[in-house]
Amino acid sequence: MATLLHLLFFQLLLSSASKAQMPGFVSLDCGGKEEYTDDIGLLWIPDDQFIHGGQTANISIPGENPKQYMKVRYFPADSRKYCYTLSVKTRTRYLVRASFLYGNFDKSNFYPMFDLSIGATHWSTIVISDANVMEVRELILLASSPTISVCLSNATTGQPFISTLELRQFNGSLYYTTYETQFFLSLSARINFGAESNDSVRYPDDPFDRIWESDSARRANYLVDVAPGTEAISTEKPIDVSTGERPPEKVMQTAVVGQNGSLTYRLDLDGFPANGWAFSYFAEIEDFGPDETRKFKLVIPGLPVFSKPTVDVQENAQGKYRLYEPGYNNVSLPFVFSFGFRKTNDSSRGPILNALEIYKYLQINFGSQDATAMGSFVSHYQEADWAREGGDPCVPASWSWVQCNSDQQPRVVSINLSRKNLTGNFPLELTKLPGLVELRLDGNELTGPIPDFGGCPNLEYIHLENNELSGALPSSLADLPSLRELYVQNNMLSGLVPQGLLSKKIIFNYSGNLHLRKGKKDTSRVIIIICSVTGVSMLLVIGIAYYLFTQRKGKNIPKDKVTSVPPAKKLSTFFSEVATESAHKYSLSEIEDATGKFEKRIGSGGFGIVYYGKMADGKEIAVKVLTNDSFQGIREFLNEVTLLSRIHHRNLVTFLGYSQQDGKNILVYEFMHNGTLKEHLRGPSARERTLNWIKRLEIAEDAAKGIEYLHTGCFPTIIHRDLKSSNILLDKHMRAKVSDFGLSKPAVDCSHVSSIVRGTVGYLDPEYYISQQLTEKSDIYSFGVILLELISGQEPISNENFGLNCRNIVAWAKSYIENGNIEAVMDPMLPDDYNMQSLWKIAETAVMCVKPQGIQRPTISEVLKEIQEAIAIERVSGLHGECPAKVISKKTMGSSVNSDMICSATPEQNVSVPELFVQPGLR
Ligand SMILES: *[C@@H]1O[C@H](CO)[C@@H](O)[C@H](O)[C@H]1NC(C)=O
Ligand SMILES: *[C@@H]1O[C@H](CO)[C@@H](O)[C@H](O)[C@H]1NC(C)=O
Ligand SMILES: *[C@@H]1O[C@H](CO)[C@@H](O)[C@H](O)[C@H]1NC(C)=O
Ligand SMILES: *[C@@H]1O[C@H](CO)[C@@H](O)[C@H](O)[C@H]1NC(C)=O
Ligand SMILES: *[C@@H]1O[C@H](CO)[C@@H](O)[C@H](O)[C@H]1NC(C)=O
Ligand SMILES: *[C@@H]1O[C@H](CO)[C@@H](O)[C@H](O)[C@H]1NC(C)=O
Ligand SMILES: *[C@@H]1O[C@H](CO)[C@@H](O)[C@H](O)[C@H]1NC(C)=O
Repeated sequence: MATLLHLLFFQLLLSSASKAQMPGFVSLDCGGKEEYTDDIGLLWIPDDQFIHGGQTANISIPGENPKQYMKVRYFPADSRKYCYTLSVKTRTRYLVRASFLYGNFDKSNFYPMFDLSIGATHWSTIVISDANVMEVRELILLASSPTISVCLSNATTGQPFISTLELRQFNGSLYYTTYETQFFLSLSARINFGAESNDSVRYPDDPFDRIWESDSARRANYLVDVAPGTEAISTEKPIDVSTGERPPEKVMQTAVVGQNGSLTYRLDLDGFPANGWAFSYFAEIEDFGPDETRKFKLVIPGLPVFSKPTVDVQENAQGKYRLYEPGYNNVSLPFVFSFGFRKTNDSSRGPILNALEIYKYLQINFGSQDATAMGSFVSHYQEADWAREGGDPCVPASWSWVQCNSDQQPRVVSINLSRKNLTGNFPLELTKLPGLVELRLDGNELTGPIPDFGGCPNLEYIHLENNELSGALPSSLADLPSLRELYVQNNMLSGLVPQGLLSKKIIFNYSGNLHLRKGKKDTSRVIIIICSVTGVSMLLVIGIAYYLFTQRKGKNIPKDKVTSVPPAKKLSTFFSEVATESAHKYSLSEIEDATGKFEKRIGSGGFGIVYYGKMADGKEIAVKVLTNDSFQGIREFLNEVTLLSRIHHRNLVTFLGYSQQDGKNILVYEFMHNGTLKEHLRGPSARERTLNWIKRLEIAEDAAKGIEYLHTGCFPTIIHRDLKSSNILLDKHMRAKVSDFGLSKPAVDCSHVSSIVRGTVGYLDPEYYISQQLTEKSDIYSFGVILLELISGQEPISNENFGLNCRNIVAWAKSYIENGNIEAVMDPMLPDDYNMQSLWKIAETAVMCVKPQGIQRPTISEVLKEIQEAIAIERVSGLHGECPAKVISKKTMGSSVNSDMICSATPEQNVSVPELFVQPGLR
C-alpha cells in the first residue's frame, strides 16, 4: 500500500515536473479520455476542452503503437468546419503538428479525404491511402493573436478525423524569416543523415520536439538515387550547436560522407513546386590530419548557380564539432528534388552532410474582414454551442449560422440566430458589418434599445421580433437604403413610429409593442408587400394588404400566434452532403411483409428484379432483389451498400437500406410513382398524355444534375455505366431521378481497365466497348442517346424505324441533324408548344455527346448548362407568348441551316407562381 502511494506520488511529481519542464508544449490526444505522460516524458491531455463537437473512436492496427495514436476524434461529413482553438503567446513562433492515423476507426474502409486549415489558411489536404499509415503535417507560424485555430473541413470522402494535435513553442529567433507576417512555413523534409536506426529523433533529444526523420526510414520517393560510396559515420563527442536553428546534438553526431567523392539524393517535396526555406546542417565529426581537407560544392542538376560557393565545414564553422548551417531563405524548388554534394578537386575527403530541413512558404489567408467583430460578438456567449464553432467566421467554411460572400476576404452577409436564448443588450458588434444583408435575432431575450444600423448599409431584412427590446425605434432605420423587411413586433418598444419608416415601401411589423404609437390619427393603413423570389431575381408586387392597427394590451399575446414569416428561400447548395449515417438494415421478413412476398413486379434493372412494397408505416418502397451472381461475396455486397448509402442527391433515387439474409441480397429504394422515362416516351402513358417539350427538358435537366453529382460530387468519381431511359425515374411531381447508380466500382483512375463491359445495347459507348477503358465520357455518350430519345421518341435500337441500312438511333438522328433537318427526327407525338431554338440547342448537344471519341464529348456540366439555356429560351418564349428573333443561320457541324421558328403562344404554361406569404396580423 505504502509503495503504491509512493508510486502514485512519484508519478504525480513526475507529471507535474514534466508540465513545468515544458512550457509552451501542448499535446492533445484527440479522442483521449485521460491525462498521461508517455515514454519520452511528454504529457498528453484529452482534447475535449479545445474543440466543440465530434465523436471519439478507438482504432486497432497491427503492432505496438504509442497510446496517443490509438484513438481519434471524428466529425460528420458535412459542409461545416470543426476547429480546435489553442491559446498561444502573441509575437512568438510555434511549431504546430497534426497527425492522422485512420486505422479504419469507422469500420467502413472508406478512406477519408478532407481539408486541414490553420485559421482561414488552407494548410493541406489530408488524403488517407493506407489505413495503417499515419499522415503528419507540421507548420511553423508566428502567432499574431492570442489563439490559433486548426480546422478540419470539406469532407470529400469518408469522415474527417484527427489523432493528435501538438503545439511546441520556439525560443528566441528560431525560424525567423522576413516573410513571417505573410507566410507560414509548412514542413516538407527534415532529415537526420547517417542515423543509427530507422527511428526519428525528437524530444527530449530535441528540446523543441521537432521530428528529425532517419535517412534510412524507407518511404516511397524518399531519398533515392543514393550515390555509391555513401557511408554513415557518427561520433560520441559533443557538438556545439548553439547557433541559428539549433539542430539537436544527437542529429549532428551522425552524418553521411561520400567516400567516392559525391553524395546524391532525390526526394519528393510535398506541396512543391513553390518557394521554400531550405537549410543544410554540417559539422565536421571525423578526425583527420592537418594536411587533409574536406571541401565540396552543392550540385542541383540544371541549376549551376547553386554550385558557386564552396563549403569547407571546418573552416566555415571555425573548428571541428561545430555547426555550420548554410541555406536559402527563399528558394524556388521543384516537386521532384534532386541534389548532391561533390568534392572539389583539391579536397582529399568526400562531402559530408549531417541534416537538412526544407519548408514551403504557405501564404497566409487573413480570412473574413469581419473576423474581429464576429469574434468579439461570440465571446459574449462562450457557453453557447453556436458561439464555439471556432476559426474564421467565413473561411474555409462559414459558421453554421452565418453566410458570407465570396470576396477574397469575405464579408458576413447573413446572420441567423433566431431563438438561441441571446440575452443582454443588443450586441453592438453586429452593427459593424458593412456586408450584412440579413439579420435574424428574433425569439431571443435581448433587452435595451435598438441600435443605429448605419454601419450596415446593405441590410435588407431585419428580424428583431419577440425580444424584450425597449426604447424608441431609431429613425435612422429609415435611412437604410436597401431595407425591405423590418420586424420588431412583440417587444417593449415605446414612443412614436418614425414617419420615415411608415412611408417606406417595406414590409414592416411593429405590432405587440405596448407603448409604441404610430401617431394620433387613423388606425389603418396600406402596406405594400414586396416579395422577392430568390434565384429568379425578379421583384413582384403581389398584393396589397390592409393592416388594422389595434392597440393591444401588454405583451401577453400567446407566442404561438405570432409565428414569424418563414425565411426567404436561400439559394440552397446544390449538392447534398455526403451522408454520415450508414445504411439501414431491413430484415427479410420485413421486406416480405412489405412486398407481399415479392408479389408485384415493377421492373427489372441491371443486376436484378424490382418489386413494389409498402412498409407498415405506409411508406412505399421499391425493392431490388439482386441476382445471385451480382456480387462475389457478402463483403463485396456490403462494400457496395456502404458506398450507396453515401450517395445522396435530390436527382438520384434515394437508397433506403438493404437486407441480406438467406443468400438474398436486397436493396431498398424510395418508390417512384411515375415510373420510367421510357414508359412516358413510348409506353401506354405516352399515348395517354405525351410529355411536352419543356417537361422533357426539365427531365433532362434533373437527370443531368444527378449525373453531374456522380461525376463531380463524389470522390472517387462514380461512373454510372448503364444510363438509359428506363433508368430515369419520375416521382409524383414528374421530377426525374437517376436510378441504378453506384452498383459498380467507382472509377479508380482513368486508366482503370475493367474486365466486363457493362451497359445496354444502344446506349453503350463504342469507344468503351472497343478499348474497355471506362471514363465519365461513356456516361455522356449514353446521355446523348437519351437526349435523342427525348427529341425523337424513338427507341435506341430498332429494326424498322431507321430506314433500310440503319438500326441505331445515333447514326439515324445524326445524319438528319447534321443536314439541318430536325423535323425528320422530331417525335411526331410532341405537342407543338416548343421553341425551335431550344430544340436545336438540345439536338446539337446530343450530337456532341455521341461523338465517337470521348475526348470530343462535352462534360456533364457543359451538357447541363446547354439544357438550362434551352429551358431559359423556352421559358422566355413561353412567358411572352411571342416569337424570339428568327434563327437566321444555324451552324451545325459545318453545315449551314435555315430554320423557321415555330412559336408557341401558351403563356400560362411556364409562368412560375412565386411563393406567397402573408404575414400574420396583416389581414
Ligand atoms: C476505447 O477503449 C477504452 C478502453 O480501452 C474504452 O474505455 C472506451 O470506451 C473505448 N471507446 C470507444 C469509443 O469505443
Ligand atoms: C474540397 O475538396 C475538393 C477536393 O480536394 C476540392 O476540389 C474543393 O475545391 C474543396 N472545396 C473547398 C470549398 O475547399
Ligand atoms: C530558451 O531561451 C532561454 C533564454 O534565452 C534559455 O534559457 C532556454 O534554455 C531556452 N530554451 C530552450 C529549450 O532552448
Ligand atoms: C530500417 O527499415 C528497413 C525497411 O523497413 C529495414 O530493412 C531495416 O532493417 C531497418 N533498419 C533498422 C536498423 O531497423
Ligand atoms: C568507390 O570507391 C571504392 C574504393 O574507394 C571502389 O572500390 C569502388 O569501386 C568505387 N565505386 C564506384 C561506384 O565508383
Ligand atoms: C521569394 O522570392 C520570390 C521571387 O523573387 C518572390 O516573388 C516571393 O515573394 C519571395 N517570398 C516568398 C515567401 O515567396
Ligand atoms: C434555450 O433555453 C431553454 C430553456 O433553458 C432550453 O430548453 C433551450 O434548449 C435553449 N435553446 C438554445 C438554442 O440554446
